[in-house]
Amino acid sequence: MSCLFTLEYASISRDLSNDERLHCVHHVHRVGLWPPGVLHAIILPLWNQGDKTMARVGFGIIGCGNIGPVHAEALSQVRGAKLVAVSDVVEKSAKALAGKYGAASYVDYRKLLERDDVDAVCLCVPSGVRGEMGETCAAAGKHILAEKPLEINTKKIDRLIAAAAKAKVKLGCVFQSRFAEGARLVRSAVEKGRFGRIVLGDAYIKWYRSQEYYDSSQWRGTWKLDGGGALINQGIHQVDLLLWFMGPAKWVRAESRILAHERIEVEDLACATIGFENGALGVIEASTAIWPGHPARVEIHGSEGSAVVEDGELHFWRFKKETKADERVRASFRSDAALGSGAGDPLSDLKCEGHRRQIQDFVHAIRDDRPPFVDGPEGRRAVALIEAIYKSAASGKTVRL
Ligand SMILES: NC(=O)c1ccc[n+]([C@@H]2O[C@H](COP(=O)([O-])OP(=O)(O)OC[C@H]3O[C@@H](n4cnc5c(N)ncnc54)[C@H](O)[C@@H]3O)[C@@H](O)[C@H]2O)c1
Repeated sequence: MSCLFTLEYASISRDLSNDERLHCVHHVHRVGLWPPGVLHAIILPLWNQGDKTMARVGFGIIGCGNIGPVHAEALSQVRGAKLVAVSDVVEKSAKALAGKYGAASYVDYRKLLERDDVDAVCLCVPSGVRGEMGETCAAAGKHILAEKPLEINTKKIDRLIAAAAKAKVKLGCVFQSRFAEGARLVRSAVEKGRFGRIVLGDAYIKWYRSQEYYDSSQWRGTWKLDGGGALINQGIHQVDLLLWFMGPAKWVRAESRILAHERIEVEDLACATIGFENGALGVIEASTAIWPGHPARVEIHGSEGSAVVEDGELHFWRFKKETKADERVRASFRSDAALGSGAGDPLSDLKCEGHRRQIQDFVHAIRDDRPPFVDGPEGRRAVALIEAIYKSAASGKTVRL
């Protein structure tokens, strides 16, 4: 048992900086899962040896608005990666970001793709332009790490997945919540059957976005470029975690509304009942109309245990058959989420740590020639469910997936 727990932490920490690894090592020691000294003496030196021989992967960032700079900061901390160039149709934005990190800047992203030292691109442009842009990047032989949602619908996602496969480049979708320790512990407990018969899985995203937020860019709150509202833009991280924990959904029944915003085409409130393939039921509630915004929450409940994750961190962890480690996991609950929250404002508390972990995994995927942890098909799943929710809300009917 202690060995399994240690391996869990080791697998998490392979994608971490040395500081984070040490945090994990200390955590493992704190919860008493491994004799002190073993990780320091054997595992850390092996990790470090691997780092030194790792070839640097050159990155380009396309889209230098809100999230582009988070990718740039994350990249500055990723081992084996180098930010080479950035692009934005707004020249000022591209130049500002390029200047801060010593990268080249372009208004036309195709010029960035002409560079041989760009091996991979981070797509940080509005959601509905990533598909076509991604296909162009794939044709240029660049690996693609696209922000969430991978695209605004499954048709466009399928084209992008096919283009990446044809060009033999990696395709990843940013779901940084999957790299939070709490979320990984829950997933691991599911794999071990610790919840018993899983009966209920819920996701609650009760967030706030001001009218100014929607007015600030022409693409926000539109079907064509945002692909939807509270659910596909803000709620998708929790929808992804819910599916990661619960397995595939079978059917949905949903309602949606625009209640507290003007000049938007898409929902600021959606409520859905989900039937999962494993027989369990669940609820998704997503809103951008709830002030001041609450931590995003995913719950999983079974006949043998329950867990609750808030902003990636465990807030409840109980099993009928408890182990010594469970008490220690509870004692280590942290009140400050490592990955930050976007509950009231998109960027006020967004830290780059989650992106750093995911980009580190992407670099390993390129180096080891394996799929990234969240690849194209994994990125597609949450969009497919959200698409079904929108269809149900529009038709008033149950939609089968
Ligand atoms: N993972 C997360 O937690 C997270 C957080 C915020 C945003 N996002 C996602 O990131 C994406 C961008 O969001 P944002 O808030 O940064 O938007 P934004 O509007 O602030 O930034 C988008 C940028 O892309 C640029 N752009 C548009 N078309 C372009 C093109 N053809 N070539 C080059 N640049 C182009 C715009 O000028 C703008 O600067 C969205 O899909 C959003 O869902 C993810």
